Amino acid sequence: MELTAPEPAADHETIVVLDFGAQYSQLIARRVRELGVRTVLAPCNQPDALLEPNLRGVILSGGPTSVYDDGAPQLPSSVLEAGVPVLGICYGMQLLGHSLGGFVEPADDREYGPARARITDSSHAIFRGLPDEIDVWMSHGDVVAQVPPGLRPLARTQSSVAAMGNDNGVVAVQFHPEVRHTAHGQRLLRNFAVDMCGCRGDWIASSIIDERVAQIRGQVGDGHVICGLSGGVDSAVTAALVSRAVGDRLTAILIDTGLLRANEAAEVKETFENGFDLRLVVIDAADEFLDALCGVIDPETKRQIIGERFVRVFEREASRIADADFLAQGTIYPDVIESGGVHGSADVIKSHHNVGGLPDDLEFELVEPLRDLFKDEVRALGSQLGLPESLVWRQPFPGPGLAVRIVGEVTAPKAALLQQADAILRAEIAEAGLERQLSQYFAVLPGVRTVGVMGDGRSYGELIALRAVTTDDFMTADWARIPDDVLARISARIVNEVPNATRVVYDVTSKPPGTIEWE
Ligand code: XMP
Repeated sequence: MELTAPEPAADHETIVVLDFGAQYSQLIARRVRELGVRTVLAPCNQPDALLEPNLRGVILSGGPTSVYDDGAPQLPSSVLEAGVPVLGICYGMQLLGHSLGGFVEPADDREYGPARARITDSSHAIFRGLPDEIDVWMSHGDVVAQVPPGLRPLARTQSSVAAMGNDNGVVAVQFHPEVRHTAHGQRLLRNFAVDMCGCRGDWIASSIIDERVAQIRGQVGDGHVICGLSGGVDSAVTAALVSRAVGDRLTAILIDTGLLRANEAAEVKETFENGFDLRLVVIDAADEFLDALCGVIDPETKRQIIGERFVRVFEREASRIADADFLAQGTIYPDVIESGGVHGSADVIKSHHNVGGLPDDLEFELVEPLRDLFKDEVRALGSQLGLPESLVWRQPFPGPGLAVRIVGEVTAPKAALLQQADAILRAEIAEAGLERQLSQYFAVLPGVRTVGVMGDGRSYGELIALRAVTTDDFMTADWARIPDDVLARISARIVNEVPNATRVVYDVTSKPPGTIEWE
């Protein structure tokens, strides 16, 4: 399969985030994009990324190493030669300190967590509009003990230099402006991107849409495109964008595996049939998927079976569309980053990131118009393209669907029961106005039979577990503090309305050590 990422328009102002292995580098790139500035995240050993046509600035991320460690990543010479402002964050600051002739040493007290920074030079552009003292988030073992010649200290915490810089575009902070715990962090990033780098903020949804539509037309010519719709945001926005570009020369295929959430297939169908100019094929393949899963208990085997079956059904349906040469996919920037495109070393704990993906040997040329966009940007595009809010803000849903929320064997009655419980949970969360505060929330069928009291008698039925998490990146997550009264309503409705559900529990495990899904 040929990879054809859209070429970004050459003239967007760009800030390159060089990644030194920090857990927060994606977040830095996202936060700067929230300012309307295009960012590119590149590994620190690929300084060629600085050859961007309209490079306006470079951010050096944090990282786990000490500048004195064997093999510690060094500052590529091209960073200071690029002639654009540079912001070092955490390890990025130590690297600048070390490379420019200052002195870095292990801190007496390793600072981790909240700290207070006093700005000692508020004349510097990076601190414009900030108060004299700010709460910041620290995570470091080394400190810049001596600021390099030509730079001056700009802020201090109780134990270390918290920021340094000069008036020629070099600035560095020891704390993390990208995390929400740092007060005014976004303002600081804005000061860098707008005031120091001179970016005007030309990365906005409407111009991205026009640009992508033109790119798709350029790539596809008068060819035909097919696209799989999963019910998720990424594939929906891809389909909407491609249909804007080529109209009914797009055929979208929605495979109902029988493991989608209640009403999901119907909602997607209605959205695309009524609002978009494309051909839509809905395949009811529930029996086929459930048959294939019969007797299967192991979660990874379930994922594998569903992944393979999905490909088979998709290929079968695609082969019926005689003239299709292009396959549109909703690959987004984090997929590219996490599948090794940028880091190359993300831990694979479950096989899930390729489940539902399509194999490399399909005879299509790929159209991937979202390949360099973050989720929030994809949502903004979706709204702008006229997709309903319910679809644009849909929470992530795993490729294998309810199969990984039904512990043990998957059967049609279990899937139906879980769909009902899950629909109640979703309805009550929406009613309480909590949808946007929760990153993911769903019901699970643990396969535990439990006793209840119904009327005068005892019942013996299924346990339903509720899971709800908040997270920025799905790599770590906290269980959500849903108000008691909302939980009470959900629980009461489930045991009253879902036949055979006798008990409801709430999962209070964070990730790590738990995962978000139960399987
Ligand atoms: P875990 O359970 O690993 O989930 O904490 C992290 C995120 O990934 C989703 N997930 C999957 N997505 N196929 C997918 O497409 C899968 O097999 C799969 N398993 C987990 C999960 O819903 C959460 O958003």
